[in-house]
Amino acid sequence: MKVLMICLGNICRSPLAEGILKLKIKEQGLDWTVDSAGTGAWHIGNPPDRRAQLIAKEHQLNITDQRARQFSKNDFNDFDLILVMDQSNYQNITRLTTSDSDRKKVKRILSFTATSTKDVPDPYYDDNGFEHVYQLLDTACDDLISSVQL
Ligand code: 4NP
Repeated sequence: MKVLMICLGNICRSPLAEGILKLKIKEQGLDWTVDSAGTGAWHIGNPPDRRAQLIAKEHQLNITDQRARQFSKNDFNDFDLILVMDQSNYQNITRLTTSDSDRKKVKRILSFTATSTKDVPDPYYDDNGFEHVYQLLDTACDDLISSVQL
């Protein structure tokens, strides 16, 4: 399974999602490819936001080596699942699709989880939002692995 995590800047939510899922697949011995990208171009080449790095570190996860990149149409060919954080990401990615099979690859990451929240909230302007984001993504990654393995 090849999974691409998507958010707006690729410096807060999707780097955490990438790091969390990579750790889980390693622990479970799964041979998956996991990457992340942003819909926007502002942070290309930058490491994750220091608040994302910090919350990851608090959970024994090191995401410092990641560098932001922007989503490209080639990613539709390279990945099986393109998991977006929120409705805005969903619209930005699906409007680039040219086939039903590409469109079907795009899902909200919380669609794998029984939660009343559909969007992983953008923590960029909320210093205290990162732990909540971490918890949502941690659960979502567990549920993703379970649903793919069914
Ligand atoms: P992310 O958070 O999409 O989770 O990486 C953001 C990062 C940067 C900006 C917005 C959201 N920004 O406006 O630069």
